[in-house]
Amino acid sequence: MQIVTAKNLTKCYGTFTAVDGVSFDIHRGECFGFLGPNGAGKTTVMGVIHCFMPPTSGEVRVFDIDVCVDPGRIKARLGVMPQDDNLDPDLSVIENLLVYSRYFDIPQKTGKKLASELLAFVELTDKAAVNIRDLSGGMKRRLLLARALINSPELLILDEPTVGLDPHSRHAVWEKLGYLKKNETTLILTTHYMEEAEKICDRVAIMDSGKIITIDAPQRLMEEHGGSLEYVYLKLTGRSLAD
Ligand SMILES: Nc1ncnc2c1ncn2[C@@H]1O[C@H](COP(=O)(O)OP(=O)(O)OP(=O)(O)O)[C@@H](O)[C@H]1O
Ligand SMILES: [Mg+2]
Repeated sequence: MQIVTAKNLTKCYGTFTAVDGVSFDIHRGECFGFLGPNGAGKTTVMGVIHCFMPPTSGEVRVFDIDVCVDPGRIKARLGVMPQDDNLDPDLSVIENLLVYSRYFDIPQKTGKKLASELLAFVELTDKAAVNIRDLSGGMKRRLLLARALINSPELLILDEPTVGLDPHSRHAVWEKLGYLKKNETTLILTTHYMEEAEKICDRVAIMDSGKIITIDAPQRLMEEHGGSLEYVYLKLTGRSLAD
C-alpha cells in the first residue's frame, strides 16, 4: 500500500522550476529519505506532500487523496517537523503544544495529557513552563518533533530533524523515530548526514537541481557503486570532495 504517490511532480516559483517532473512512491511503514545538495528541491517536494503548497503540475496523492482536491483531510493525518523553527516565541513550551492540539480539535483534557507525554518523549518535561526564547537550538528541534506528533500522525514529515543536535540527542531522536516506525508510522525525511540516512532510511531518493537521480535502499546503492553512501551521493550529484 502506498502512502504517497507522485507522478511528474513539478513545482515552479514564478519562472524558476524548483522541482522538475519527479515521480516516486512511498510505502506504508517505511522510512524514506530525500538527499541532495542545498537547493536541490527537497523541502519543496515535502511542502507539496504536506499540502503547504500545491504542485504546479503533475499528480500527488497522499493516503490516496489528491493534494489538490482535499488537503484538509490529508493534513489531519500527518505531522510536520519543519526545517525552520516556527514555534510561537510568545508562548511557553507546553503552551506551544496545547495551541497546536486545538488546531486538530483535540479535547482540552486529552491535549494536556498528550502534551505532557510528548514532552517526556523528547526529554523536555523540566522545560514545560519555560518560554521558547529561553530554549537552546537543539531543544527547539526536539519540541518541534513533539509538536509534529500531537495528532498521532500516520505519516511524519521531518525536514532535517537532527540538525544542530548534540550526539546524545541525535541518537535519542533516531531511537524515537525507530520506535515510531515500529508502530507503523511512515517517515519521510531530509538530511545532509549520510550516517543518519544509512542508519534510519529504508530507501533514499538522491536529488539534484529539481530532479531525482536515483531511488534505492542505501545498502544497495553502496553495493552497486562500491563505496560509502557519502561516496555514492558525491558521485551521483557530480560533486567531488575537491570541488
Ligand atoms: N518560496 C520560494 N520562492 C522562490 N524560490 C524558492 C522558494 N522556496 C525555495 N525556492 C528555491 O527553490 C529551490 C529549491 O529549494 P528547496 O528549499 O526545496 O531546497 P532544499 O533541497 O530543501 O535545500 P536545503 O538543503 O538548503 O534545505 C532553491 O533554488 C530555492 O532558492
Ligand atoms: Mg530544505
